[in-house]
Amino acid sequence: MHKIVIRGGQPLRGEVHVSGAKNAVLPLLFATLLTSGRSEICNVPELRDIDTAVALLKILGAQTTRDADCCRVDATAISSIEAPYDLVRTMRASVLVLGPLLARCGHARVSLPGGCAIGARPIDQHLKGFEALGARISLDHGYVEAQADGLRGAHIVFDMPTVGGTENLLMAAALAAGETIIENAAREPEIVQLAEALNTMGANISGAGTARILIQGVTSLAPLKIRVMPDRIEAGTFLIAAAMTGGNLLVRGARQLDLEALLQKMVEAGVVISAEADGVRAVGPECLRPVDIRTSTFPGFPTDMQAQFMAMMALADGTSRISENVFENRFMHVCELQRMGANISIDGHSAIIHGVHQLHGAPVMATDLRASASLILAGLAAENTTEVTRIYHLDRGYERIEQKLAAVGARIERVAV
Ligand code: UD1
Repeated sequence: MHKIVIRGGQPLRGEVHVSGAKNAVLPLLFATLLTSGRSEICNVPELRDIDTAVALLKILGAQTTRDADCCRVDATAISSIEAPYDLVRTMRASVLVLGPLLARCGHARVSLPGGCAIGARPIDQHLKGFEALGARISLDHGYVEAQADGLRGAHIVFDMPTVGGTENLLMAAALAAGETIIENAAREPEIVQLAEALNTMGANISGAGTARILIQGVTSLAPLKIRVMPDRIEAGTFLIAAAMTGGNLLVRGARQLDLEALLQKMVEAGVVISAEADGVRAVGPECLRPVDIRTSTFPGFPTDMQAQFMAMMALADGTSRISENVFENRFMHVCELQRMGANISIDGHSAIIHGVHQLHGAPVMATDLRASASLILAGLAAENTTEVTRIYHLDRGYERIEQKLAAVGARIERVAV
């Protein structure tokens, strides 16, 4: 077990590189199940969620190897169609094997993910989509079982834009007979990358990145070869770190278009943002202004940046309101930020943040992935020492964050406990 120890108060200066996007790699890894032959995915970060996905691919019979930042997967022989509880429990995105297995093998069994720290997170929309494609869905001892004698195209209208649902259906429909239309599709950049990847494999998908995606099914796909896009949430976290410490940081690899909603809010807060040739720069202001945000699906403000933005607003000169509209129960970082002197109250789906002049170091506990990041940010800006425990959450989604931050001036280390 490890903890992160931060002695705050250092402005971050210099350049930091963004790793490959966790949320893009996971569906890409599972998309390799759609084909036999050797696929290669590069710019893959070293993260616990990626290890979990690779472990799952192995359980299903795929051969996997890793060489530097490239991951090779050969799913020629699939020997199991079951994603067991132990893996799905640690990583919900494991449900993304349903679509590929159903399309390739006509059969998939995946443990129901159940509740998680940030809300109920059902998969009813995924299942509704598979049923529309002709699958028979049953629930058996905590497992979802999907079977089909050949999928056929359908017109699917999601009740709400779901990232995982859109990805699962894209993968299944790529090999379904005929045309599938997904309406009210999620529009996240990671979905665009998945659609582009599938198209390079021979799929016929258009409209990804809009709310209406059209898929003309094909009979087979070729192996995948792709480089993963930069992680927009990691990039956003570094930009806020610069802003909160009064620093000046070039986040190399950050793509402005992926971050627009966040960047506009940062500018409103007084942060100087500039797009440069190979990244985005943030310069922290003397005084942060309060800004209201409402999370929503892309291109709106990402829920995955809500906790980090709240840490920044905890130091703003005035009162801000943050409304969480994507997940219920995603304010668990609030209690921990309060332990550091933040003045935050919760009102239903909103948090009201009265900015304070200074945060104070304290022992705090991470409760989920993005909550961990908000505590690290608070610790970087706080006076004295902050110790963040339960950092296994952090390791699910941030690659060597303490090394990256230390290289730009933070006094931060990982310590065994
Ligand atoms: C993905 C991201 C996660 C991000 C989230 C929202 C990955 C691996 N994870 O998660 O980091 O926070 O998008 O941007 O990419 N819902 C249903 N029924 C469904 C599916 C979803 O009710 O069948 C609800 C969920 O409970 C949630 C909302 O829809 O309230 C959004 O969920 P979804 O977009 O599916 O998120 P994930 O794909 O799980």
